[in-house]
Amino acid sequence: MADTNKTAKLSFDGKELELPILSPSAGPDVLDIRKLYAQGDVFTYDPGFTSTAACDSTITFIDGDLGELLHRGYPIDQLAEKSHFLEVCYLLLYGELPSAVQLEDFESRVTNHTMLHEQMVYFYRGFRRDAHPMAIMTGVVGAMSAFYHDSTDITDPWQREVATIRLIAKMPTIAAWAYKFSIGQPFVYPRNDLDYASNFLRMCFSVPAEEYEVNPILSRAMDRIFTLHADHEQNASTSTVRLASSSGANPFACIAAGIACLWGPAHGGANQACLEMLREIGTVDRIPEYIARAKDKEDPFRLMGFGHRVYKNFDPRAKVMKQSADEVLDLLGIENNPTLQVAKELERIAIEDPYFKEKKLYPNVDFYSGIILDAMGFPTSMFTPIFALARTVGWISQWKEMIADPQMKIGRPRQLYVGPTARDYVDVENR
Ligand code: CMC
Repeated sequence: MADTNKTAKLSFDGKELELPILSPSAGPDVLDIRKLYAQGDVFTYDPGFTSTAACDSTITFIDGDLGELLHRGYPIDQLAEKSHFLEVCYLLLYGELPSAVQLEDFESRVTNHTMLHEQMVYFYRGFRRDAHPMAIMTGVVGAMSAFYHDSTDITDPWQREVATIRLIAKMPTIAAWAYKFSIGQPFVYPRNDLDYASNFLRMCFSVPAEEYEVNPILSRAMDRIFTLHADHEQNASTSTVRLASSSGANPFACIAAGIACLWGPAHGGANQACLEMLREIGTVDRIPEYIARAKDKEDPFRLMGFGHRVYKNFDPRAKVMKQSADEVLDLLGIENNPTLQVAKELERIAIEDPYFKEKKLYPNVDFYSGIILDAMGFPTSMFTPIFALARTVGWISQWKEMIADPQMKIGRPRQLYVGPTARDYVDVENR
């Protein structure tokens, strides 16, 4: 972040303030209002943070107009095509692509932390059998602070590193066990000879009664889904993790807060909602009815998997996801999949429709991911847990960046109070 030597002048109530303008390495300039309240006795008002940068960061950059997503400067389509999830994890966490030796060391550290404390099995068993896997994940990840005391001191860089590796390593086991519990099958333990994505698929789909061979093309597709969801700068769940950790809370509690936030249908829950919507539409002839509903101001219905706060162009992740959906369905011999047909036709109609054009509503990452996950055999309730698994590295990278920043302060937004002013208490008999 560089000082531009430019300033913005603000005058009100006879006061004149000069606000410094900061220049990022990419993206619009930023007005520095940190001293605004002290010097001007005013707050700024920006519900939904539509114009507010809450931190500086070196991790991820999005150009919403161009539809560009960079991790540490590398475009997401290059990473999705040429890299793989654990390498992207390293890049997000440590800032550079690893050398071969660094990558091997990182992969070995992650691989050797995949098991859960055995007593956590009892913790799982306390949930109702029909619990949503996101509810289980929120609880289990929060409970990690009760099982791994030796990595909760955030002032110790070594403990921060151990917590980082533990979270990335154990998240597939946690998500797979949430699934196994919900379908009444025995938990499958991780296998260290498998890569990250294959291990997850095996823990979800194998049973002790028979051998399970991981299909390498499905494993590659799974890995790509993880890569595409790894980080997305200051979205709602990441900001939740930052805000929670600004109080000094331990990393497991903060990531649990991020998972809880991700669950909402406007955020990570959209992948489940999107596939359910595509199934509800069912056939292409019903698409116009749903397009009309999405445009009707009186109807709360929205096209799930469409629109984004930052992208006002194609979400670059959706492009890769669409290609992946074609490959996976082809591999599995699922021709003429009705949901994919509805998705493709819906996309075609919506992007030509003046309403969606004017509002710059394009398909987002969740539009095609559900089709792939469904074809792989995942129930819709597992879509958001898979997003949470993959986003964990983004949350932790942002958390590490924040904790290491000497300027870190507790997050404490202000408000525009519009409630009653001070008044005297009235006894109940006089009300
Ligand atoms: N269908 C129909 N109309 C929409 C949609 C949609 N999916 N999204 C936005 N609009 C309209 C909205 O009604 C509003 O119209 P108007 O200006 O006339 O009031 C305008 O577009 C702007 O919408 P907004 O809600 O003010 O925009 P936002 O930036 O606050 O919301 C969003 C972004 C992603 C929450 C929203 O587009 C949405 O609800 N999309 C569907 C849910 C979804 O797919 N979410 C996944 C996001 S990507 C993955 C992730 O980050 O988790």
